[in-house]
Amino acid sequence: MSKTVFITGTSSGIGRETALYFSENRWNVIATMRHPESRKTGLEGRKNIDVIHLDVLDPDSIQQAVTHALTTYGSIDAVVNNAGYAAFGPFEASTPEAVRRQFHTNVEGLMDVTRALIPVFRRQGHGTIVNVTSMAGRMTFPLYSLYNSTKWAVEGFSEAVAFELRPFNIKVKIIEPGIINTSFYDRSKDVLSTKEITAYDTLVEKIIRYEEGNIKKGKFSPPSVVARTIYKAATDGSWKLRYHTGKYSGTILGLRRVLPERTFIGMMRYLTLR
Ligand SMILES: NC(=O)c1ccc[n+]([C@@H]2O[C@H](COP(=O)([O-])OP(=O)(O)OC[C@H]3O[C@@H](n4cnc5c(N)ncnc54)[C@H](OP(=O)(O)O)[C@@H]3O)[C@@H](O)[C@H]2O)c1
Repeated sequence: MSKTVFITGTSSGIGRETALYFSENRWNVIATMRHPESRKTGLEGRKNIDVIHLDVLDPDSIQQAVTHALTTYGSIDAVVNNAGYAAFGPFEASTPEAVRRQFHTNVEGLMDVTRALIPVFRRQGHGTIVNVTSMAGRMTFPLYSLYNSTKWAVEGFSEAVAFELRPFNIKVKIIEPGIINTSFYDRSKDVLSTKEITAYDTLVEKIIRYEEGNIKKGKFSPPSVVARTIYKAATDGSWKLRYHTGKYSGTILGLRRVLPERTFIGMMRYLTLR
């Protein structure tokens, strides 16, 4: 019998590629997104992909999507918590609303989806929770303080909850992508307005130049690379917790592990701010 995966944020990028990859491997795919009625993504109309509404900020939509999945397929074997975005800019320019929305989406939304699925997995006696964090969940970048803190939070949450779920045969997986070519760096980015604070202008320009330089030099991996890693994490049967994937993630996180902290942070400063 086909297995079923439940994925958040499938309207573009990593989520969309992951939906396609699982479907090519004959899984039933609950492809959730905020605006299925208005977004044409190429997922709709495919035999084993069920495109439905879910906004991680809306608990009712989470419950309705889970109920729909169970009614239609009887069980859910894996969830991929992928929905997320980055606030970009100096912390001083952030508003409490920007902070709340960043944490609500990337952390609380992910927790709400996870909480809705744990009882299902417990009853079934199995299930895999795949949380998409980032290499930015274990190191940091200038001007991404809000985003970095959310991904560090998800890393901590995932590692801790894995202890309590293991006795129920529920696996927790953390996916740490590097730099991936998606809408993350343009459409999805929440740029914090610095109109009234000019003190950071030089830094902001430097980081934008650094990112644009990476784009021009093609220093990105396609989202399909991450989709394959997510699939591997959901199907390898191991209790392995972390999977790095995509350009730079393995190298940067390897250096983070072996270098003294001062050296690593000095290197990041040189790479991003020179
Ligand atoms: N691209 C990278 O370099 C990179 C690196 C490391 C980690 N990641 C992580 O990978 C994940 C996917 O990002 P991506 O690179 O594929 O970017 P993306 O193409 O911008 O995709 C982000 C997805 O999240 C959805 N989303 C945002 N807020 C949502 C909400 N409230 N409820 C439901 N869905 C919501 C978006 O939906 P809409 O279309 O409605 O906006 C979109 O489908 C994110 O968690 C991101 O942090 C990305």
